[in-house]
Amino acid sequence: MKKEVKIGLIGYGTIAQGVVRLLKENKKEIQSRLGAQLKLVGVADKDWKRKRKYPLEKSLRLNDAYQLINNPEIDIIIELVGDFPGVAEMLIDSLKAGKSVVTANKAVLAKYGKKIFQTAVRTGSQIFFEASVGGGIPVLRALRTGLCANQIQEIYGIVNGTCNYIITEMEQGRGEYKDVLKEAQRLGYAEADPGADVEGIDALHKLVILVLLGYGVSLDINKIYREGISDLSLLDFRTAQDLGYRLRLLAIARQENGFIDARVHPTLIPANSLLAKVEGVYNAIYVRGNFVGPTLFYGQGAGMEPTASAVVSDVMELARNLLSGKKSSRIKPSGYYQENPRQLKFKPIEELKMPYYLRLWVLDQPGVLAKISGILARHKISIRSVIQREGREGDSVPLVIITHLALEKSVQKAVREINRLKVVIQPAKVIRILTELEK
Ligand SMILES: NC(=O)c1ccc[n+]([C@@H]2O[C@H](COP(=O)([O-])OP(=O)(O)OC[C@H]3O[C@@H](n4cnc5c(N)ncnc54)[C@H](OP(=O)(O)O)[C@@H]3O)[C@@H](O)[C@H]2O)c1
Repeated sequence: MKKEVKIGLIGYGTIAQGVVRLLKENKKEIQSRLGAQLKLVGVADKDWKRKRKYPLEKSLRLNDAYQLINNPEIDIIIELVGDFPGVAEMLIDSLKAGKSVVTANKAVLAKYGKKIFQTAVRTGSQIFFEASVGGGIPVLRALRTGLCANQIQEIYGIVNGTCNYIITEMEQGRGEYKDVLKEAQRLGYAEADPGADVEGIDALHKLVILVLLGYGVSLDINKIYREGISDLSLLDFRTAQDLGYRLRLLAIARQENGFIDARVHPTLIPANSLLAKVEGVYNAIYVRGNFVGPTLFYGQGAGMEPTASAVVSDVMELARNLLSGKKSSRIKPSGYYQENPRQLKFKPIEELKMPYYLRLWVLDQPGVLAKISGILARHKISIRSVIQREGREGDSVPLVIITHLALEKSVQKAVREINRLKVVIQPAKVIRILTELEK
């Protein structure tokens, strides 16, 4: 039995420092679980002058990832670089060189996953990517193994801690979006350039990976509807609370009657649901399988330590395979031998039906509601309630309309028409409502 598994690490940023620390601090635990040692033989990074919280010993420092990829001694490559040109190639070349690979790179997997996974299957090399969704939460492993006897029916994920922090701070009335974002940046919960998080791009990348593992379906990222949180206002949070809802940015994937739909958008969910209780930077992924029923995975979705935990758990699983003589994976990267086994057809958001929340700022004049409700009626959208909120900005007042079940396509058309009305001062904010969710 091989008693040592050799590792090369590409990138020495936040997560990589956590990995090196974990390998050191939990060395005994790891060794006693594996019956072997994990030996870090080198770390490649572009810039060793940059100060790190946990500096790396000089003898391990390298400047070029290919010094690791081309090193025949190395068994496992960990890639912790991020979404940069050339990183997909690094993963592919590592697999081609016969290495087992671990990555946390949701962006690269969402964009180039098909090619990367095909390379893994063709070369018989293995790739694990637990840390790419939900940081330290082992939800991908659950989908691949613990839940693999099920047909997954729905996945609802709070998968971006930055957004959940901002949303739950707004929910507490701590300020409008811009102020709360500034505070999140000060605390290190949001990046200086927060676009990938607050516009739902990061959640979209994670959704693509969840869909692959949950349904065996490889979705084109460009087909998936995505909407971020940057135009939510305190008014929406207050109204949501009064109506018995909470707002969360959800990554949603559901299959029904031969169709799959997938989307990322702010969603009104029942205030007493489990996901409504997920606050701050925490993540939670709700998965319902046809035999297991509802399950919920909750924990820290980012950060040095939780993410390192997921990375090293992948390394250990790969090491176990290598130690038992299995170089190629028992399971395909997606967990499926056949792509899209249930032949699910993608249903675009336009074809979905759900209730809607429409927030409008309108001139305070008689007849305004009649104009708006007339447009909605023409598009076969029936109104469940109309709420006139307190508050005034100049001549305009806020108006919230809740609809019954309506077709997204019709809502989009109606809203375009409503926005053209002279009495409508700001484009309507549309928020989709999920009326039923596990309590
Ligand atoms: N941070 C989290 O909480 C978290 C959570 C889950 C998943 N992830 C994922 O984990 C990965 C790493 O994230 P991170 O936060 O640790 O990123 P990071 O702090 O930016 O670290 C990335 C490191 O890679 C280096 N690098 C860039 N190009 C390179 C190249 N061609 N060869 C070698 N090194 C290179 C960077 O150097 P320079 O700084 O000099 O460019 C930096 O030291 C990403 O894919 C991220 O999406 C992160």
